[in-house]
Amino acid sequence: MSSSNSSFWKKAVNSEIDSILSNHTWELVYLPPGNKPLGSKWIFKRKIKADGTIDKYKLIQDEVHNWDYLLRDLRPSCIKCAIELEIPDIICKNANPVMSVSDLTATLSNLNPSKIIFIPVLMRVLVDFGLFNYHQLQQGDGYLITNFGRLFVKNDPSSKRSFFLFSQHPVMLKTTASVSDWLQDDLPTAVETAHGKSHWDYCVEESEFGSVFDDAMASDSRLISNLLISDCCKHVFEGLASLVDVGGGTGVMAMAIAEAFPGLKCFVLDLPHVIGERKGTGNLKFVVGSMFENSSH
Ligand SMILES: C[S@@+](CC[C@H](N)C(=O)[O-])C[C@H]1O[C@@H](n2cnc3c(N)ncnc32)[C@H](O)[C@@H]1O
Repeated sequence: MSSSNSSFWKKAVNSEIDSILSNHTWELVYLPPGNKPLGSKWIFKRKIKADGTIDKYKLIQDEVHNWDYLLRDLRPSCIKCAIELEIPDIICKNANPVMSVSDLTATLSNLNPSKIIFIPVLMRVLVDFGLFNYHQLQQGDGYLITNFGRLFVKNDPSSKRSFFLFSQHPVMLKTTASVSDWLQDDLPTAVETAHGKSHWDYCVEESEFGSVFDDAMASDSRLISNLLISDCCKHVFEGLASLVDVGGGTGVMAMAIAEAFPGLKCFVLDLPHVIGERKGTGNLKFVVGSMFENSSH
């Protein structure tokens, strides 16, 4: 494209491809033998309004798309802010599923009074990010949590809250920001590039980060363990006398298996800072050790 309008047309093509992909319009497959592909063409026309000027609507749409893309990085910080203020938990617990913004701000007791005016703005942004649905109430704005918003509720069975907080921890943010440096140095992991030590050493030395990581792992295992002990998978444990969950963290997976199979001896092997004072009861035992060393247990 060499015309003076080439950047306009390139944008139009990219926007059309984005729209086709995001709508799952087609699926890329190999051509089945014996079939002939049909060709297709795209025809782009400039829409001219009755007064002869170019229709700016498409240009405005592109501009919205560009700003949306550029500001996308704000999403995690807004969601983290909502989690830290416990907004998803508060709305979930509210007697009426739709909570008015005035009731919400009244419940947020730690807010500085001069900042209350920003809560309606934050809520509008969180609606845009899909955590809540907006409802017009007689007393003003109201909000209802969505299925996506439930991922950030503390005790919801499908919660991804802990994993999200781990991904947004300053240690992880510095690690992800160091990926290009890591690609150019000779260290084995981006954590070492960013922090000068391995992930596991960091977990030992900075216990707050270690706990955030353990919670993230446990939340993931909680979801998977439900599946593992369900009718579709539980046959894999039949005939076993004992099992060891190597690097089993705080033992969420082994606990679920031990409870579902009382005749099966379950062991959790992990590093000392993770096992802590855990001993286990009944058919579950926690063992401190390294998977890279021989163990007499
Ligand atoms: C990806 S996490 C798995 C967590 C676990 N599935 C859970 O539910 O919490 C990996 C685990 O391996 C442990 N780990 C790392 N190095 C280890 C080693 N040398 N020996 C034993 N465990 C180790 C970590 O402490 C961590 O708990």
